[in-house]
Amino acid sequence: MPETDTLDGKTFVPSISQSLSQEKAESVETGLLLQAFQMFTSASNSLETAFSQLQIRAQRLTEELEAKNIELEKSLREKEEAQSYLRNILERLPCGVFVLDAKGEISLCNPMASEVLEQSHCISSGNHSQPLLSSEMRDYLTASGLGGNKEEVEIPVVNVDKKRFLSTSWAPLADAAGSPIGTLHIIRDITEVKALQEQGKRIERLSAMGEMAVELAHEIRNPLGSIELFSSLLVEDLSGNLKQWAENIRIGTRSLNTIVSNMLHFANPISPAFSWVDIHEIIEEILGFLNPIMKQREVNVNVKLNAQNHVILADPELIKQMMLNLIFNAMKAMPAQGSLTIGTRTIEKPGELRPACDLELKIQDTGVGIPPENLKRIFDPFFTTKRNGTGLGLSVVHQIVEKHSGYIRVSSKVDQGTTFTIVFGSRPEKE
Ligand SMILES: Nc1ncnc2c1ncn2[C@@H]1O[C@H](COP(=O)(O)OP(=O)(O)OP(=O)(O)O)[C@@H](O)[C@H]1O
Ligand SMILES: [Mg+2]
Repeated sequence: MPETDTLDGKTFVPSISQSLSQEKAESVETGLLLQAFQMFTSASNSLETAFSQLQIRAQRLTEELEAKNIELEKSLREKEEAQSYLRNILERLPCGVFVLDAKGEISLCNPMASEVLEQSHCISSGNHSQPLLSSEMRDYLTASGLGGNKEEVEIPVVNVDKKRFLSTSWAPLADAAGSPIGTLHIIRDITEVKALQEQGKRIERLSAMGEMAVELAHEIRNPLGSIELFSSLLVEDLSGNLKQWAENIRIGTRSLNTIVSNMLHFANPISPAFSWVDIHEIIEEILGFLNPIMKQREVNVNVKLNAQNHVILADPELIKQMMLNLIFNAMKAMPAQGSLTIGTRTIEKPGELRPACDLELKIQDTGVGIPPENLKRIFDPFFTTKRNGTGLGLSVVHQIVEKHSGYIRVSSKVDQGTTFTIVFGSRPEKE
């Protein structure tokens, strides 16, 4: 029995042609299905390919991102390192560096700059992150720097206690687009430098004056020599009061000559012209010359020339200069009355082959004496307790003794007197 179907309630029995066309339709349907299936397969294949390509790309992008991240981190670290390196340099710079923004306020300031500005009372800290510049200082900086001059400018700052000098040089700062954003300043405290410069100028002036004084001393020495010579001629020819006055002129001139010679010896290195010199002869000569004034001043002179060996290698003019300095000092220490003792003795020194000997010279006075606190300073140049003294006498004496390979000692008691002892070696050094 063929399969029946119901149409509109009526029983429908298909014919053979109907069955054939039904089969055909089914096969078309299957073909279409197959085709659709194939299309689906190929679409899903291409989707799969696209997906895997997308996956690869996503993977590559992730890797690139990671690399970029690493690079970014590295550059961030490098930037931080560079920043701390620069901050370190800025903090340790031995000069002050600070930046003023466009409004003239401090936007950056290294410790040295704040120290310099603080010491000069040019900043106040307030509640701000950066110190505040005093209006006076800001005016100076804007007038000197922003006025176009980039040279170093000196700024005098008067403090409560003293005047300080700051120096600043500057450079303009611009942003990436080139617009001005402020100024970079380098600041230094040059107060000490200025003081040294002043001192240098003073030393220059003094040394020029010193040179002039030495020339003058040379010029003075010649006429002094003539005055001394003529006054000694007068001493021989005159008598009574006139003789004494001429005597005073002679001694006064010699005293002046000693002072002038001290200056010359101090200014120029002493170079002795050695020859055999009899020290006793020199002592006699000087005392013979000074005797009249000693008598006038009632100074009692004792001479104790006990040295057996009194001929030494020395420069006679320098030895005279040395003795005159010591005797004039002794006389000035005894303004009225007193006693001056000049003595020599030989000091035997046991030697290996033949005994050597030194010559000792003592000049002793009973004058005012030297207080202990002054004793260690009397050989310093320019040390004097006299109103019109130069303080060069003993310094020159010391140099002369040294040039003769000798040594000098002093002992003194206030109000009792002073003794200078000089010992000349048996073999003075030749220049
Ligand atoms: N015999 C002395 N008695 C007391 N004081 C002395 C004696 N000799 C030196 N002095 C002290 O030592 C100081 C330095 O002496 P020095 O001869 O160097 O210079 P001065 O005598 O002061 O100056 P100038 O020699 O130019 O006259 C003296 O001012 C004085 O105070
Ligand atoms: Mg003197």
